[in-house]
Amino acid sequence: MTKKARILGVGMYVPERIVTNKELETIKEMETTDEWIKTRTGIESRRYASDTQTGTDLAEIASREAIKNAGLTPDDIDFIIYATLSPDYYFPGNGCFLQDQLFGDRTVGALDVRNQCTGFLYSLTIANSMIQSCFNKHVLVVGSEVHSRALDYTKDGRNVAVLFGDGAGAAVVGPAQDDHPGILASALHSEGKHAKDLWLECPSNAEGRFMTYEDIDAKKHYPKMNGRVVFKHAVTRMVEVVNEVLQKANKSISDIQLTLFHQANLRINQMVATHLGLPEENVVNTIMWSGNTTAATLPICMCEAIKQGKLHSNDLVLLCGFGAGFTWGATLLHW
Ligand code: ACO
Repeated sequence: MTKKARILGVGMYVPERIVTNKELETIKEMETTDEWIKTRTGIESRRYASDTQTGTDLAEIASREAIKNAGLTPDDIDFIIYATLSPDYYFPGNGCFLQDQLFGDRTVGALDVRNQCTGFLYSLTIANSMIQSCFNKHVLVVGSEVHSRALDYTKDGRNVAVLFGDGAGAAVVGPAQDDHPGILASALHSEGKHAKDLWLECPSNAEGRFMTYEDIDAKKHYPKMNGRVVFKHAVTRMVEVVNEVLQKANKSISDIQLTLFHQANLRINQMVATHLGLPEENVVNTIMWSGNTTAATLPICMCEAIKQGKLHSNDLVLLCGFGAGFTWGATLLHW
């Protein structure tokens, strides 16, 4: 019989600094309002890292909490999967920096995942396979983002800048004991023809250059998004992939006790929930106070659901996300 994997513990960290929509309103060049942001996205505030905090620092705090909540110590972890779109450096990947901060001289494998808002779902699926195949015993899956330093806080970039926040979330994945059903099924997708509808163009090894002064003048080092295209595809693909994963696991919507969506826009999540017939009380959202924390979002949502008393042992949980790439996916698991 195939070995089953499950999430043994989760942890999160968001920086102390709260940045409200009202604060963004005071940035003259941005010409935004609390009303616009709240009505279109559901976001009221987000957190920004301090000048001295790196993405790895955020990840370390979330990871230590996840390890503790799993009833383990850092010595029990034998692999790191680190998902981020805002790495500390172009290379090497953040997984190596986290290995050093968590384990020092004890070496473990570290894999970086570049799947943006779907990064945590891709990472969880990889961790599941590693446990099932007995290659590893306890895999630390972490998503961590510091977006706030690479946003265009002018009118040109306001459609993106208001959406994002900094934060980290982590989960320890390990063997499911006894007859716990663990992670049931995952479905992952990508469609690269839409890559340039949500991307950060430079630095880039394409087009015979890395980064020029002209690129900086053209603001190619800031993320660009075709918001309406992303919105439309997000709703369609998330509904599609939820049905796919339910079919794979031979479950139906009414079997699900809790749904956690990626937090890009509250309106996207409400539309997807309505299309699927998911009751509002079975969905936990954090976007109001977190903004979009990309790869950190789903484990942050798990921590929030625990805090709200909405996540119980053995509950059937649906995770679903959509993001740049385009990439999207869903996972069904027993808590
Ligand atoms: N404040 C005030 N006005 C704004 C702002 C802002 N922050 N941003 C845009 N506007 C203006 C535009 O300039 C435009 O003005 P105009 O009509 O005078 O030209 C108007 O608002 C409408 O702009 P749209 O971009 O068409 O606004 P839309 O209704 O589509 O909302 C939004 C924008 C909220 C970004 C929406 O498109 C969205 O949520 N898209 C999906 C985001 C998402 O899912 N991202 C994926 C995850 S991220 C990841 O993977 C990294």
